[in-house]
Amino acid sequence: MGGRLLLFPLPFQGHINPMLQLASILYSKGFNITIIHTFCNSPNKSNYPHFAFEAISEETLTASPTMQGSVTNVVLLNKVCFDPFRDCVKRLLSNASADEPILCLITDALLYFTQAVADLLMLPRLVLRTSSLSAFHVLRLHPVLLQKGYLSEDSHSDAPVPEAQPLKVKDISRTYKIEGEDLAEIISGMVMGIKASSGIIWNTFVELEQPVLNTIQQNFPIPSFTIGPFHKYFTASASSLLEQDRTAISWLDMQAPLSVLYVSFGSVAAIDKSEFFEMAWGLANSKQKFLWVVRPGVIRGSEWLEPFPPGLQEAVSERGHIIKWAPQQEVLAHPATACFWSHCGWNSTLESVCEGVPMICSPSFGDQPTNARCVETVWKVGLVLENGFEREEIERAIRRVMIDQEGKEMKMRMSCLKEKVNLCLMEGGSSYKSLEDLVSFILSF
Ligand code: UDX
Repeated sequence: MGGRLLLFPLPFQGHINPMLQLASILYSKGFNITIIHTFCNSPNKSNYPHFAFEAISEETLTASPTMQGSVTNVVLLNKVCFDPFRDCVKRLLSNASADEPILCLITDALLYFTQAVADLLMLPRLVLRTSSLSAFHVLRLHPVLLQKGYLSEDSHSDAPVPEAQPLKVKDISRTYKIEGEDLAEIISGMVMGIKASSGIIWNTFVELEQPVLNTIQQNFPIPSFTIGPFHKYFTASASSLLEQDRTAISWLDMQAPLSVLYVSFGSVAAIDKSEFFEMAWGLANSKQKFLWVVRPGVIRGSEWLEPFPPGLQEAVSERGHIIKWAPQQEVLAHPATACFWSHCGWNSTLESVCEGVPMICSPSFGDQPTNARCVETVWKVGLVLENGFEREEIERAIRRVMIDQEGKEMKMRMSCLKEKVNLCLMEGGSSYKSLEDLVSFILSF
């Protein structure tokens, strides 16, 4: 086709993965791809020899080789990237040849400053929103929930929130506050940027979130493309910033079918030392086998596993295998994996749905509380740990999902969702058709 697309991911693992997967999907549809990226957390170019890469120098960040995903950093990126990003796109536009025109920008919804650059350079911008539709819907309700006083209510309350079903009051403060930081600026920037854009791409599928899709389409009358799950086209391994430990798979190979609990909290969430101990005791006391990703830095104030007191490490290593980072998709697809204890980042949630693995949910912030309630209440394929990290509750939850009848029912419902995923991607399926629409839409620019 000869058209070129400029893609710009937010430089955090949970956002790089879906953007690079989208790039591969669009490349497979005949578009040429340029990835614009920051110096920190830059993608591994050797895994994408067919893409062009352009680094922008964001002034205050170049000294840092890695950058934690945080609200402060999102706000900062939206400020410091404007000039270098504009200059980069301008240069690419002036160098573009007539037989390979630049058709549009595709940028992460959280990089909302890019809309002003698109307007300035008169280039259409498509937005990639990497969360679920449901979580986006709850995020954008922020002004309403603030006005109704939910953010100042008891952060332990189990009362329902009628405006944001199926959330509980305690989920609201978790959604909007990240360690004292306030998401308000980001949410309003993102919402305005989406409204002014040419269209929005979602990493989800219609059958999972139809009612919310209808609501969002009413409020955002721009073209909407639900073409996910992206990782079913291309895995996340190629865009992993950390090395994936293959012993995860050789260890799983030695375990019985449906006997292992997989535990991982993604690339950003962190826990306290006391929570880590409760997790470890809950896991050890459950008497189930487990594969546990303890990402360096996940325990606040620790490098890696040094907080383990004597005795606990032995109790854990009897049944568990601990690693720093897993080939997660392969782990979830492994026949030995029975359950996923997750922070409910959207990529992790979707990956679990696609492999039919029921979940135990420990959401931390942002989109995670909504994803967790969808898992528990809407799709009924897992349960939420209501009291944070508390060893008896953890042990009970593991047994409920892995051993009890209710866990078998969750597994059945997850298997139905897995089947729906397969159908939506087949010729004539909802995501298949939406991808065709997206390709035609881009070609119409
Ligand atoms: C962040 C937010 O926390 C999340 O809520 C949001 O939806 C996206 O941005 P993150 O916390 O990293 O992402 O979670 P998640 O969305 O689940 O993404 C993690 C990715 O890393 C997944 O693609 C997963 O497969 C991969 N991963 C995770 C690994 O490859 N190995 C691991 O050991 C753990």
